[in-house]
Amino acid sequence: MKKYLAPSILAADFNILGQQIRSVGQAGAKYLHIDVMDGIFVPSISFGIPLIRSIRSANDLIFDVHLMVTEPKRYIADFREAGADIISVHIEACGDVRETLEAVKELGAIPGLAFNPETPVEELEPYIPYAGQILLMSVHPGFGGQKFIEGSCERLKLLADLRDRMGLNIPIEIDGGVTLDNASEILQSGADILVAGSSVFNGDIERNIKDFLEVIGE
Ligand code: DX5
Ligand code: ZN
Repeated sequence: MKKYLAPSILAADFNILGQQIRSVGQAGAKYLHIDVMDGIFVPSISFGIPLIRSIRSANDLIFDVHLMVTEPKRYIADFREAGADIISVHIEACGDVRETLEAVKELGAIPGLAFNPETPVEELEPYIPYAGQILLMSVHPGFGGQKFIEGSCERLKLLADLRDRMGLNIPIEIDGGVTLDNASEILQSGADILVAGSSVFNGDIERNIKDFLEVIGE
């Protein structure tokens, strides 16, 4: 499967957000990871629908929207309408996981199934057939700039095995604490899409992305 980088704008400078997103595209990234936090499922509040709608008109990156939101089904139509291409929902946040994933698909977006570091990989199994992508959290969701949780590569391998045994060919995305130093090990453990926030937006964005793309081979 082809591998990709998904820069996370949570670490961007919002004062010059448009300019920084342009740099992401110019450096050759295809995805843009957009973290929506509701202050309930996670302690922080980030940003929401109006921001997505306004950056949508300025670029054609794949909008990979990560909803850290309780009962996300209430909002998926709004996020789709604002321009989300992929909508990931947390298994821990949905009253009915299958119904939520199916609703995302019906809206014409790719349903992503996200799960927290303390959720056992096996709990995903019944829902994987309804997902178009799986998002493994390698930090506790809620904040950028955290350290990659040790053991996440083992969980990644378990998940990649499970997906392969189920005969499904859907990408696995990893999110949290990804750096140029651990990217190779993460790729070897089975990740297809690497989310990177602080390691892309701190410093020279285009240089950082080019360095990542070289490791990823995108
Ligand atoms: C954390 C978010 C991540 C975050 C990653 O809750 O889901 O996407 O932006 O940031 P870094 O790469 O700095 O760990
Ligand atoms: Zn995220």
